[in-house]
Amino acid sequence: MKFVFLLASTVAMAAPTFNRDIAPILYENCATCHRPGEVAPFSLLTYQDAAKRASLIATVTKKRYMPPWKPEPGYGNFDHVRALTDDQIARIQEWAATGAAEGDAADRPAVPAFPTGWQAGEPDQVLKVSEPYSLTADGPDRFRCFVLPMNLTKESYVSGAEFRPGNPKIVHHALIFLDSTGTARRLAASSGGAGYQCFGGPGFSGAGLVMGWAPGYTPLPAEPSLSQAVRPGTDVVIQIHYHPSGKPEQDQSSIGLKFSGPPTKGRALLLVMNRYLDIPAGESHYVVKGSVTVPQDAELWGITPHAHYLATDMKINARLPDDSVIPLIWIKDWDFNWQGQYRYQQPIKLPKGTKIELEYVYDNSARNPHNPSHPPVRVRFGEQTKDEMALAFLGLVLPSPADVQPFQRAVVLQYVEDFVRLTEDLNDLPEEIPPAMAMRLRLGLAMFDRNHDGKLDAEERANLLKLVQTMMPQ
Ligand code: HEC
Repeated sequence: MKFVFLLASTVAMAAPTFNRDIAPILYENCATCHRPGEVAPFSLLTYQDAAKRASLIATVTKKRYMPPWKPEPGYGNFDHVRALTDDQIARIQEWAATGAAEGDAADRPAVPAFPTGWQAGEPDQVLKVSEPYSLTADGPDRFRCFVLPMNLTKESYVSGAEFRPGNPKIVHHALIFLDSTGTARRLAASSGGAGYQCFGGPGFSGAGLVMGWAPGYTPLPAEPSLSQAVRPGTDVVIQIHYHPSGKPEQDQSSIGLKFSGPPTKGRALLLVMNRYLDIPAGESHYVVKGSVTVPQDAELWGITPHAHYLATDMKINARLPDDSVIPLIWIKDWDFNWQGQYRYQQPIKLPKGTKIELEYVYDNSARNPHNPSHPPVRVRFGEQTKDEMALAFLGLVLPSPADVQPFQRAVVLQYVEDFVRLTEDLNDLPEEIPPAMAMRLRLGLAMFDRNHDGKLDAEERANLLKLVQTMMPQ
């Protein structure tokens, strides 16, 4: 008994070695990105690779900068969380502090095998960017949209999508949209070459976001009950964020699609946002709030917060009709380079009337190392690098496909209502509305200003909304 205890304590006290203690941690938590050909700048598979960076590894893991995972624990129970335990972090510290020993070769685990093919099963259709895109060795990050025609001959139902980077070394993240308007095609045709430049969005509105991708992302299996209808003429548009690797590189990414029959449940994307941010140059703590109400019972399965470089802190809560609050996500140190689509372990029930509340904080001072403007400038909502955004996509499931249209209708009406409330005073329209549009808007709104006092009172607003409602498709 005493002997066992003694043995246990000597083992516990022995300095950690790479082969016995560290390699298993790195293989499980780091190697997805830190291996040859992947996004991270160096591999961490061999003792030599890891040992020469032991103190750097100790520093970045202690600060929880690596593995990259932004959501705060306790705010949303997410799937595929990337995090080391306190114990693992302590082991790494100890290993670095005691000289980063290699240890006994017999202890060393096998290098893990990584899947090379499609991870969510063989797709029914593979769409590949038509020609390789060339990226210079250095310079700023590039944002490019590529248009991939689906060439559908009849209405079809997409039940799954998996993005595959052509060159994982330079693809930092990707967003996949559907465009049935032909706008993306026109943008690509007028830019020449493979695709067109785009930053904050794909450059067209009404785009359905199919999915997001970032290094280490585990694709979802196909879900026929939630398939999405797509019309002939629809294009897949992939927006890719490229980060130069130090060498000239090429990329030709692809997407694999799965098809099925019509859905049996409804799938809706709820956008919560605030377009009226206006951040003064130099302001270090600018708070933006936004909200949207869930118009009917729904289940939330995932969330994708989005902003550009100035955002620092992002919080989204669900306030239920009984005023209780479910924290959905909190990111305390937003990093544009590590944005993700986060999925909950269990879908969250959101009863009708739940208010989704967004609160983001921005630092537009010169002290913010991510600030793209030197010196800082006034910043408003927009798609360009130097503009900002305050939004989040919420992935919802509704009981039946028939619920989707009334749901979207109610949400659009809410947006219109919020806008009408904001433009209540015809002589004091929000400054970010361009002058020509403000002029037309003033003329249009004035038609509802029955008593000609230059403002839309509650009754006048209600009349306007009634008209909008009758104009919306049933
Ligand atoms: C999802 C991909 C991914 C995972 C998982 C990941 N890394 Fe990284 N790592 C990167 C990328 C990309 C960079 C370079 C850009 C950056 O620093 O953000 C990086 C940079 C680093 C750096 C250099 C930091 C610096 O300041 O120069 C170290 C050290 C590091 N990672 C260690 C680790 C360790 C240890 C783990 C596992 C515990 C890990 N990483 C997991 C992608 C990843």
